[in-house]
Amino acid sequence: MKNTKYKLYSKESVEIGPDSGYDNYIMAIESSCDETACAIVKNGREVIANVVASQIKTHAQFGGVIPEIAAREHLDSINIVIEEAFKQAKDNANIEPDDISAFAATVGPGLVGCLLVGLNAAKTLALTFDKPFIGVNHLNAHLCGNYLDTDLKPPFMALLVSGGHTQIIDVKSYSEQHILGETIDDAVGEAYDKVARLIGLPYPGGPKLDKLAQEGNPHAFKLPEGKVDGYNFSFSGLKTAVLRLVKSFDGEIPTNDICASFQETVSATLLKKLKLALEKSGYKQVVIAGGVAANSEIRKKIFNLENEGYKVFAPPMKYCTDNAAMVASCAYFNTNTFDDVNVEVFSRVK
Ligand code: KG4
Ligand code: ZN
Repeated sequence: MKNTKYKLYSKESVEIGPDSGYDNYIMAIESSCDETACAIVKNGREVIANVVASQIKTHAQFGGVIPEIAAREHLDSINIVIEEAFKQAKDNANIEPDDISAFAATVGPGLVGCLLVGLNAAKTLALTFDKPFIGVNHLNAHLCGNYLDTDLKPPFMALLVSGGHTQIIDVKSYSEQHILGETIDDAVGEAYDKVARLIGLPYPGGPKLDKLAQEGNPHAFKLPEGKVDGYNFSFSGLKTAVLRLVKSFDGEIPTNDICASFQETVSATLLKKLKLALEKSGYKQVVIAGGVAANSEIRKKIFNLENEGYKVFAPPMKYCTDNAAMVASCAYFNTNTFDDVNVEVFSRVK
């Protein structure tokens, strides 16, 4: 892995990753949406510092993330999370800023104003300490959350479910992966948040809907599964069906039963397609990732695959939602090149 472009650091070449032959400490920053996070990870798996500043309280007042406000909050928090991560690394592993092998940041997909805060902080650190900079794709990072504190090795089949994406991914090696299917309309997290809003739950709706669902009857209402071919998904019809159902009640709405029925339909659909992909691939390892991987029923259904001989990996809750440890792991395992000073952010999947 050689940096041949305009260099952010002065050395001729430096190896980062599993083949480097020495211990790598990567500091990463995540600021793609509403979490300002900084972490330091040893050799892609061992988390020695992990700091997350959440903006949930701010955005709850508006019922969703306002990009300009989010970017300003990132500016307020960025230096604090970096300082705290350096402090944790010193306390936990006696690691000094000079020991960091490379600096990384999420460069997309995400909110451009937000991404720029993390990217510029990480590039500045790389210049200051004369170390390489690695730009990381947020979706790949979510998958790599599964390498933290585990011995997971590819190949495996992955289900990535977040606020913006729903994908089934064939992970053939640390650096080679193929998207087999994805949503043709709403992402799972988006569907959760929209349904939550229409039944009157405050932002962020996904986790709240999940909680109510656990109190309801999952078979109270029969809701339609999106009909799409292959490994693709569709959730907008389901969302409309819930809207119609809610409107059909004059008096009190059976919220828990609606949540449970919605959750049952979503989780059954995800499981069905994931199983299809697994059977076709012959893989025995399954991974779930992304914010919605925190969902109780989706986890339960997918972990049940262990009774069928599969090994299931899901990050602990703190590595499901946005964090920087997964970004550091991704920089270590999944990156073939270093980025130069002109690296840019992007809002949508390229
Ligand atoms: O991955 P993430 O933190 O941010 C994105 O990159 O999108 O995912 C956030 C999404 C939100 O839509 C949130 O409502 C959803 O994950 N989410 C959940 C749960 N926890 C978070 N959805 C359903 N059940 C949950 N327990
Ligand atoms: Zn995310």
